[in-house]
Amino acid sequence: KKVMLSGIQPSGDLHLGNYLGAIRNWGTRSEEFDCYYFMADLHTITVRQEPAALRRRTVEQLAQYIACGLDPEKNTLFIQSHVPAHAQLGWVLNCYTMFGELSRMTQFKDKSAKHTDNINGGLFTYPALMAADILLYQPDFVPVGEDQKQHVELTRNVAQRFNHVYGDVFKIPEPYIPKAGARVMSLNAPDTKMSKSLPEGCVFLMEKPEDIMRKFKRAVTDCDTQWCVRFDREQKPGVANLMNIYAACTGKTYEEIEREFDGKGYGVFKPTVGEAVVETLRPIREEAARLIADKAYLEQVYRAGAERASYIANKTLRKVYKKVGFVAP
Ligand code: TYM
Repeated sequence: KKVMLSGIQPSGDLHLGNYLGAIRNWGTRSEEFDCYYFMADLHTITVRQEPAALRRRTVEQLAQYIACGLDPEKNTLFIQSHVPAHAQLGWVLNCYTMFGELSRMTQFKDKSAKHTDNINGGLFTYPALMAADILLYQPDFVPVGEDQKQHVELTRNVAQRFNHVYGDVFKIPEPYIPKAGARVMSLNAPDTKMSKSLPEGCVFLMEKPEDIMRKFKRAVTDCDTQWCVRFDREQKPGVANLMNIYAACTGKTYEEIEREFDGKGYGVFKPTVGEAVVETLRPIREEAARLIADKAYLEQVYRAGAERASYIANKTLRKVYKKVGFVAP
C-alpha cells in the first residue's frame, strides 16, 4: 500500500487555509493509502508559545482532524513529540542539510523578519526536522498547501544526498498539492496568505457563522466599476481569492462561477461565498465541539496513534543509525 503523511503546527487554531489547502485532501484517500497525520508540536516552539494554550490547541487539533473526516481507525493520528524518532532523525538530518539550503527557505526569511527578538537555531534548522517527519514513514505523497512545497523539495534533496552516500535508505516523496484551495489568501489583504496572524482576514474552523459572514461581507475586492466576477489573479486578486474559495467549497469551475454571478455584483457574490463556507464548516465545527468534550476518547486516539507511528518510525531510525555508523544498543 502507498503511504501518505502530513502535519500541521498547533501554533494557532485551524483555519480555512489549513482545511482547503491540506486536511480536506487527506481524508479522501484513507482507503487507498496508509495515512499518517500528526500535530507538529515540536515545530511550534521555534516561536515562543504559551504552554497551556499549546497543550489545549494540540488536543483540539486532533478533534478537528477527526471532525474533518479523518477516521482514527483508518488513519494513524498522533502527536509529534510522542514519537521520539522525529527528534532523533531530525538531528541526523541536520548534519546532511546545508547551511545554504536552509538560508534559501522563504518561511525562514518571513518568520525571522517577523520575530526579530527570537531568531533561534530551531527556526533556521526547522526544515531538517520536517524532512525527518516525512522520511521516517517512507511516504509516496505529502499533501500540503503551496507554501510548504519548498520544504518538501528540500526533503527530497536531503533524502537523495543521504541515499547517494549510503544506498537506498529513504523513499523520495512527492508533494501533493490540491488544484483549488492550494493557496487561500487573506480576506482583507489578498496579496498575503490567509494565516492566524491576520485574524480579520482569516476564517477559523470553529468560528461562529455570523462572524464568518461578517468577514466575507467585508472582504476586499476591487474598484472595478463593472463589479464583475471574473477570475484574474493579477488584476483582481480579492475576487480571484473568493472564487478559489467558492470553487473549493462547491466544486464549481471558474467558468460556472462567472456565469452564476454574471451582472450580479459583489454585494451578492460575497455573502454567497460566505454561506458556502459556513455550510462547509458547520458539520466540522459541531462534530469537533462534541469531540473536544470527550477528553478520554481523544487521549485513547493519540496514544494508539503514537504506538503505531513509533513502530514504523523506529524501523527507519534503526536503519539510519546503522548506516551512519552508530553502535547498536
Ligand atoms: P502549517 O502548520 O503552517 O500549515 C499546515 C498546512 O496548511 C497549509 N496552509 C495553507 N494552504 C492554503 N492556503 C493557506 N493560506 C494556507 N496556510 C497553511 C500548509 O501548506 C500546510 O499544508 N511545516 C509545516 C508543518 C509540518 C509538516 C511536516 C507538513 C511539519 N512537518 C511534515 C508536512 C509534512 C507547516 O508549518 O505547516
